[in-house]
Amino acid sequence: MSEVLIIEEIPCENGDGVIAKVTINRPDKLNSLNNEVRTKLKEMCDWADSNDSVRCVVIAGAGPNPPQEGKRAKPNAFVAGADITEFVGKGSEEIKEIFTDNAIEAIWDLSKPTISMVDGFALGGGCEVACACDIRIASTRAIFGTPEIKLGLIPGYGGTQRLVHLVGYGKAMEMMMTGNNYDAEEAYRLGIVNQIYSPDDLESKTMEMAQNIASKSMHTLRVAKVAIRAALDNGITKGVEFEAEVFAKLFDSEDQKIGVQAFIDRTNPEWKHR
Ligand code: COA
Repeated sequence: MSEVLIIEEIPCENGDGVIAKVTINRPDKLNSLNNEVRTKLKEMCDWADSNDSVRCVVIAGAGPNPPQEGKRAKPNAFVAGADITEFVGKGSEEIKEIFTDNAIEAIWDLSKPTISMVDGFALGGGCEVACACDIRIASTRAIFGTPEIKLGLIPGYGGTQRLVHLVGYGKAMEMMMTGNNYDAEEAYRLGIVNQIYSPDDLESKTMEMAQNIASKSMHTLRVAKVAIRAALDNGITKGVEFEAEVFAKLFDSEDQKIGVQAFIDRTNPEWKHR
């Protein structure tokens, strides 16, 4: 049986370190998140966070297998949600255990930059995986949505919270109350998607963005992520105070000196914290 999670370590163009390309690999079930995928995703997060060589994580869904004879081809999917078959017969206690301290929260908590590369359906938990990443790059055939309402449910991997920050209160209400699908263009307009490319260009353009981010100082990237996240947790007054604090602390870091000096010397910075 093939692995449900494939991790490729792609060397960074700019010096040492790697971009971890993580592919959720259950294309016959549209890469839906079953227990095995969730467990492997959590393990991947522990590995990526503790492995100094990992400078950026890109999460994708596996493309469809060739159709079996006489059967129609399955559609492209990033992730078509939680594996609904695992919901059958479960009560609140069991579900609470699965949905607390879950794999999507582990992705959200990664200290490294994360990008989701979305080609096809990103529904329910798939939309939530995408929203738990820092940046979303989609193909023109990406489809986003939160159809849980049609199952008598609501998003359970933090989607009610994270989507509001991306699309705003009114659109989040519309998405979660209608369960409608939104194509890539609409998702771009809504602020879910950062950039859209043709399916052929999606991977190279996503990797270009990952390489760009990976070329920066890891220390500064970590601080940037913490500071930007503070905007979600704090009001503006507290957030600005927090930013002033971490901004000033960066002046004690070697990479700040290296970056500023490189600008003055018109050279490329050789980051200490790769
Ligand atoms: N959980 C479990 N299995 C899923 C799944 C999910 N979330 N989404 C798709 N699959 C499975 C289907 O059961 C089917 O399996 P089979 O071929 O063994 O019967 C296979 O993936 C292909 O899906 P299918 O529904 O045949 O493709 P489609 O092109 O007709 O429709 C979707 C695609 C995405 C519209 C449809 O699969 C769908 O609505 N999926 C559920 C989305 C959802 O509600 N997600 C939120 C879950 S909380």
